Amino acid sequence: MPIADSIREALGSASLIRKMFEEGNQLKKQYGPDRVFDFSIGNPDIEPPPAFHRVFTKLAKEDKKGSHGYMPNAGYPEVREALAEKVSREQGITLNGSHIIMSVGAAGGLNVVLKAILNPGDEVIVSRPYFMEYRAYVANHGGRLREVDALPDFNLNIRAIQERLSQKTAAVLINSPHNPTGRIYPAGTITELAEVLQSWGRASGRLPYLIADEPYREIAYTTQVPPILCAYNASVVVNSYSKSLSLPGERIGYIAVSPLNQDTEELLNALIYTTRILGFVNAPALMQRIVAALTFARVDVSVYERRRDAFKQVLDAAGIRYAEPEGAFYLFCQVPKGDDRAFVDHLKQYRILGVPGSGFGTPGWIRFAYCVDEKHIQASASAFKQAMETW
Ligand SMILES: Cc1ncc(COP(=O)(O)O)c(C=O)c1O
Repeated sequence: MPIADSIREALGSASLIRKMFEEGNQLKKQYGPDRVFDFSIGNPDIEPPPAFHRVFTKLAKEDKKGSHGYMPNAGYPEVREALAEKVSREQGITLNGSHIIMSVGAAGGLNVVLKAILNPGDEVIVSRPYFMEYRAYVANHGGRLREVDALPDFNLNIRAIQERLSQKTAAVLINSPHNPTGRIYPAGTITELAEVLQSWGRASGRLPYLIADEPYREIAYTTQVPPILCAYNASVVVNSYSKSLSLPGERIGYIAVSPLNQDTEELLNALIYTTRILGFVNAPALMQRIVAALTFARVDVSVYERRRDAFKQVLDAAGIRYAEPEGAFYLFCQVPKGDDRAFVDHLKQYRILGVPGSGFGTPGWIRFAYCVDEKHIQASASAFKQAMETW
């Protein structure tokens, strides 16, 4: 049976990661899951906080009449009001419920935003390395990804972004805390980027959107993630509860639009419409009510911080260099001489799994996810050492 050419092509290029996943499963069958050091997948293993279970049980028991019906595509008005308060605190500007659209995770939110703003051939600028799904999300809606290398410390390279701007630029898409490096972009960088985009908008007559993908906002160790919505008029934040409440399977998130935007109302109407026509219709009903009651809750971030420190010790002992993560739960490591895919294959012989940097547009690097038990990280130390001795 025929499938679309574009999908066939995408399936072909994604096969490396699929192959790795399958090989990982094979290794686990062969040696037992505890003897395979699987740092490949960013799937939070910490359980949701106890408050989640309390609210979940309470709401399930209440089972109010009508609570499973269709609702406005943007979500329940009272949920949007509750989230507007939380987002106003985080983003340094006052929002009301109308500025929030509930989404099916951050992935759903990003697709809704891109569908709403892209004309065919429009460009979206991203900083390389970047979350590998961005390419497909942009292509889904007729856009083209334009990649710009980050600075050596993985901060945004504002000059390079400036040089990439063109009449076709619909948006700059940033992600902080960053997957795969754990970098948090400083407030000064955001201000600089906003100034560059404003002046480009004035000169060209086309003000690009700034889309901030923030599912790791709450997973920040020492620095807070600077606000976006107060810094730039045409800004949109996409967030979710996949990491902050460990609910990736529940697919709940939101889009927040800056009230400073001249065309806020038109954009909001577009986002509501694209939520509908992409087939999401609305974000999951029960989860909306739950997250509205949990605006102050989050997972215990110190658990991730301890794992990060344990992993750093393992890497230091093995002589592997990495970018210092300020948030999220990834360590992006420099492949000590040679090809990242070959290094990933080499590590597999020692039952260590990671993702090659090529998958994020940056060959020569490898990503390890530390959403696994601290003991498991510590237990990987001798495997890492042996692997390095034979590399
Ligand atoms: C940078 C980034 N953006 C978006 C997503 C999608 O998150 P969600 O589960 O909220 O759709 C992920 C998931 O890992 C991610 O790492």
